[in-house]
Amino acid sequence: MSKTAKIVLDDNEHVLPVVTGSENENAIDISKLRGSTGYITIDPGYKNTGATKSAITFLDGEKGILRYRGYPIEQLAENASFMEVAYLLIYGELPNTIELQLFERSIKRHTLVHEDMKRFFEAYPAKAHPMGVLSSMVSSLATFYPESQNPDRNSEAINLTIHRLIAKLPTLAAWSYKNSMRHPFMYPNNKLDYCQNFLNMMFSMPTEDYDIDPVIVKALNKLLILHADHEQNCSTSTVRIVGSSQANLYSSISAGICALWGPLHGGANQKVIEMLLKIHIDGGNVDKWVEKAKDKNDPFRLMGFGHRVYKNFDPRAKIIKKSCDEVLEKLGVNDPLLEIAKKLEKVALEDEYFKERNLYPNVDFYSGIIYKALRIPTEMFTVMFAIGRLPGWIAQWKEMTENNEPIGRPRQIYTGYNSRDYVDVSKRK
Ligand code: SDX
Repeated sequence: MSKTAKIVLDDNEHVLPVVTGSENENAIDISKLRGSTGYITIDPGYKNTGATKSAITFLDGEKGILRYRGYPIEQLAENASFMEVAYLLIYGELPNTIELQLFERSIKRHTLVHEDMKRFFEAYPAKAHPMGVLSSMVSSLATFYPESQNPDRNSEAINLTIHRLIAKLPTLAAWSYKNSMRHPFMYPNNKLDYCQNFLNMMFSMPTEDYDIDPVIVKALNKLLILHADHEQNCSTSTVRIVGSSQANLYSSISAGICALWGPLHGGANQKVIEMLLKIHIDGGNVDKWVEKAKDKNDPFRLMGFGHRVYKNFDPRAKIIKKSCDEVLEKLGVNDPLLEIAKKLEKVALEDEYFKERNLYPNVDFYSGIIYKALRIPTEMFTVMFAIGRLPGWIAQWKEMTENNEPIGRPRQIYTGYNSRDYVDVSKRK
């Protein structure tokens, strides 16, 4: 017997169906509410509103659980390659040996970017933030591949676009960094794997090869996996709603990159490092900064803390924190910011303000410290988040299009003027 919900509106009782998912989550289906009652619901920030049903990622904010297609994030981060996880998210199953080889080979075939696009970089100022460059470049890819304009559902063109995006994003990201340094671009090297290739394009020069450290490659692989998807977060919801108008995948992903850039979302990893540096320069007095974060009259927030869904530890933060110690020790890096981060976490987690509000470190709190140890520049941190999140965005866009979901068009409650007549400018005060 399926569950139902009853509401009474203007003395009339209405019965609404309840949808229950595979992890026993429940939702009241209000898709027919307006038609049968004239009422809509309102929920700024969609804190209590589900936008879709999805089989891609499950997370439980109270228990700190995160699974991609049923596989716990801890097992994937420890055992899988980022390419395996990308395939899993997009196609629904872990690839077998042949499938993985074909996938990786196809990705390698598309790592080059059209030579005409190189000229775009020259027009950007050296100080251009790489997220602004990346979102424009990804959107411009649609102009080089017009066949991607008409997303013919389940067509080969969509799959080619998926592979082109996964292949080209690291190239565009590395070139945006090289451009900001006014260094020559380094081309993809198909003898290298996905993470090795990105690091090589970032740090090698025509005059000297970059020494690809397996410790760094392993850490980068783990970080990309941990960022790969996170159900209906701000940027993923953006990708879905742009794609729901049947805009092409490049444009939808470009919109997701823009949403991720915000400091409350993916931009937080850059803000965390800037915050830790500010505290370090200020003498490392974490108590003072925790008090500032609690003060409603002070705009300062503890970046990397709190989460819309996790009201317990973000499982990704736990894995990254553990990885921090390992990577910094193996690289022989002694970063005072890590000590400040750990002190900040300890003080905050013992403080009533943070405990009452279930504010814990999130994925962005420690990731910047590892990126810093990998010599990734601070302004590239959110770009790293985008490279990791790309397979998740693609998987969610693909699921939305394959399910033929309707164009997203929320309603509103109007609070402006009631009807009033036009007054000629000569008669206005
Ligand atoms: C990501 O959604 C996802 O899945 C996102 C993400 C992903 O993988 O896609 O996990 C990635 O975006 C992680 C979040 C990164 N952002 C930050 O670290 C920025 C700092 N955190 C916040 O601004 C905040 O916690 C949010 C934006 C993450 C969540 O905000 P909510 O859910 O809207 O909660 P809220 O702002 O209503 O806060 C509830 C209370 C408020 O206090 P009261 O009004 O109840 O007194 O907690 C307070 C807030 O002031 N609060 C904080 C705080 N975060 C929330 N106070 C101090 N420092 C903070 N960081």
